[in-house]
Amino acid sequence: MTTFKYKLSSRTGPITIEDYRRRARHAVPDMIWAFIDYGAEDLTTLQANRSAFGRYALRSRVLVGNEDVDLSTQVAGERLSLPVLMSPAGLAGLAHWTGERGAAQAAERAGTLMVLSTAASYSYEEVAAATEKDHFFQLYPYHDPVSPTGSLQNGLTQSLIRRAKKSGYKAMFVTVDTPVPGNRESERTRGMGKPPVLTPKRIAEAALKPQWAYGFVKHRRVSLRNLVDEVGMKAAIDGISKQEKLFRPEMSWDDFAWMRDQWQGPLYIKGVLDADDAERAVDMGANGVVVSNHGGRQLDGAPATLDALPAIAKRIGDRAEVLLDGGVRRGTDVIKALCLGATAVCVGRPYFYGLAVNGPAGAEHVINIFREEMRRAMTLMGVKAVKDLGPEWLLSAGAPIPA
Ligand SMILES: Cc1cc2nc3c(=O)[nH]c(=O)nc-3n(C[C@H](O)[C@H](O)[C@H](O)COP(=O)(O)O)c2cc1C
Repeated sequence: MTTFKYKLSSRTGPITIEDYRRRARHAVPDMIWAFIDYGAEDLTTLQANRSAFGRYALRSRVLVGNEDVDLSTQVAGERLSLPVLMSPAGLAGLAHWTGERGAAQAAERAGTLMVLSTAASYSYEEVAAATEKDHFFQLYPYHDPVSPTGSLQNGLTQSLIRRAKKSGYKAMFVTVDTPVPGNRESERTRGMGKPPVLTPKRIAEAALKPQWAYGFVKHRRVSLRNLVDEVGMKAAIDGISKQEKLFRPEMSWDDFAWMRDQWQGPLYIKGVLDADDAERAVDMGANGVVVSNHGGRQLDGAPATLDALPAIAKRIGDRAEVLLDGGVRRGTDVIKALCLGATAVCVGRPYFYGLAVNGPAGAEHVINIFREEMRRAMTLMGVKAVKDLGPEWLLSAGAPIPA
């Protein structure tokens, strides 16, 4: 009698980041999806981030006796089990009510860390209290919405840094690619302008996602918690609605120097695409740079981060850490970024997809997908450890291999 070797199952869970993306799209209302997944203007940079990875092929060597692959790496002196961190992304409570708290717990279960956003729906203190490891935090050097003409050395920025320090955060990531908000037309046309526009149709559509709607209404993790703690709910909402009250187009390198003075731990500058800027930041005491275009949410037409990476890594890679984010969706994408000089990558939308589909367990699974894909790909390439990855492992996709 023949027996089936494989068990047939009707349960087919997500197994790739793209699977999570497809499911997340249906797990949250349209306007929330627009906030998570779209970008600025024509989405040129958003798409460029993804397609840049396709221009490279991976070299492979056979019969190297590759029994185990070492993915571990170090960022800001912290050991990570794989070179993938969670990017700072605000209002994760809109993807799932557990928000950044659930995602940070997921990160540490998966052996990595989160960079917690200033604009998070959980405060620096709440996430610190709910996690065992010390994570990293991101700083938006906001205007104080109560006195928006004040200098950077206002109470607000200083207080945010002080709070993060007191809560045990290990490294500060200063985001510098947001002098003004990006022109996110796709969000506006779907009701996610500032402030959001609710219509009966949009409310009805949200109600048709009962699981999401229940968490949203019960826990109401929809505000910028750090800011609310500082200035109160009314001023925080006012700041979010009239964003010119929060953003700071006048920010300069003098402000960066001031922030360096305020924070004695490792400091990363996030949102750099130009090697001269990266060099200047490192000369001024930055310990690392995040090559980022904010996931295509700011300047549409900015280059893909993978294209900006080699020049920056060449200029500062011997004296500072170089991280990259934007469009990383596969273990092989991480490998390509590491070959081009990154120490590690950060991912933003992928863990939002995980949260939207299955809460913190989904976010943890997303990180573990990257781990499994990297391990398999490096075994197939014949590379034993991430420290061994370099440009010699890359080829041009679609071109004959040089003789
Ligand atoms: C929903 C969402 C919110 C974000 N909020 C922030 C933020 O508060 N601070 C910040 O520095 N970057 C923020 N970013 C940008 C991310 O840190 C990161 O640069 C980007 O998501 C990387 O691209 P990826 O989503 O393709 O991985 C946000 C991104 C998304 C998708």
